[in-house]
Amino acid sequence: MTMSKSKNFLHNLIKPFKLNSSREGQHGEDLERIAAQEQKQFPFETLVHATKDFHPTHKLGEGGFGPVYKGKLSDGREIAVKKLSHSSSQGKKEFMNEAKLLSRVQHRNVVTLLGYCVHGMEKLLVYEYVANESLDKLLFRSNKQEELDWKRRYDIISGIARGLLYLHEDSHNCIIHRDIKASNILLDDKWVPKIADFGMARLFPEDQTHVNTRVAGTNGYMAPEYIMHGHLSVKADVFSFGVLVLELISGQRNSNFCLNVDAHNLLDWAYKQYKKGKSLEIMDTALAASALPDQVAMCIQIGLLCTQGDPDLRPKMHRVVVMLSKKPGSSTLEEPTRPGVPGSRYRKARRPSALSSVAGSSGGSDSRTFDSSSSTLTATASSSALTNPKFDTHREHTAES
Ligand SMILES: Nc1ncnc2c1ncn2[C@@H]1O[C@H](COP(=O)(O)OP(=O)(O)OP(=O)(O)O)[C@@H](O)[C@H]1O
Ligand SMILES: [Mg+2]
Repeated sequence: MTMSKSKNFLHNLIKPFKLNSSREGQHGEDLERIAAQEQKQFPFETLVHATKDFHPTHKLGEGGFGPVYKGKLSDGREIAVKKLSHSSSQGKKEFMNEAKLLSRVQHRNVVTLLGYCVHGMEKLLVYEYVANESLDKLLFRSNKQEELDWKRRYDIISGIARGLLYLHEDSHNCIIHRDIKASNILLDDKWVPKIADFGMARLFPEDQTHVNTRVAGTNGYMAPEYIMHGHLSVKADVFSFGVLVLELISGQRNSNFCLNVDAHNLLDWAYKQYKKGKSLEIMDTALAASALPDQVAMCIQIGLLCTQGDPDLRPKMHRVVVMLSKKPGSSTLEEPTRPGVPGSRYRKARRPSALSSVAGSSGGSDSRTFDSSSSTLTATASSSALTNPKFDTHREHTAES
């Protein structure tokens, strides 16, 4: 009796906002709404029920943190449930606190975290379900590239920039994403981009296995200073954002670059073409009919500014949003220096001597060059990230408060 009562109570807490249809009247409705907003904890049975006991046919995919299942709550809301693998050493209380905090993050360009669940050893995150595929599937794995015309791609770039600016500067605390990439950008039914998987840097603060698999695998998005030294800052996100911009324009994956051109990778190619004044040559042929050349050129330059080897030279997201809002050609943007990417050799940019003292771990020093084969990078980089985790999240967090 009491069991079903309390179950009922919990059920009520996560009910949707029944506008106008509630029998309890306005007052009860308000209370319910407040309770629903504050109560972010989902009963495990609710998630079991929603996902048909995590049935394989409900599986949307699986990344480095565990599988994701599509589900439907009894009120009809669709959800995506991420079942976290047990590798996080974070305690239950800490996880709940972080998840509660993260579920307050609300922005048009960030996937809503509806809540979380802890059940024995299991930790789960519950997100709103985002209707369209993730960007990687659309951009690299389908024959639907044409659907992503230039206007859509430009709007996606701008939306991601605004979402990332929000995470870095406008949310309660600075949230470094750490994992900006095409598969973590979801598109809703109106093609609005939503950043997924924010806050993993907080939920898995010391998660080196993830970094390890990424480096060993085919990442292509991680900033050199993060790969080499585990140095995580907002500028690492800016780097990943820049890679994503160049991928959206070229339709090429940076991690799997196989064009027959004189370049090691996408960033190298974009930079070389840019230097020759031919940056538009990197453009996806699917964009030929829809592209606005000046705007594309401006975005390529922004992508290159974001992927510079020296993190101090990369713009902050605020500056990126400002640049993107400018009419192409209305103001001159900075000249990008060589991109910092494993697979290409680069030198430290010439910069004012006053700044050079902080360049220590920037990944751009003269003496440091990356091996030209990413497989060679694996061993050194993963072990260096493993043994030398200088995650800078704390500094970034406290800078805000
Ligand atoms: N909220 C969501 N709505 C709809 N689909 C989602 C949602 N979250 C994840 N997915 C789908 O599930 C897939 C797997 O997501 P997951 O985050 O586990 O993998 P990933 O993004 O490839 O890797 P990573 O672990 O680094 O984030 C995604 O590619 C996406 O297509
Ligand atoms: Mg993901």
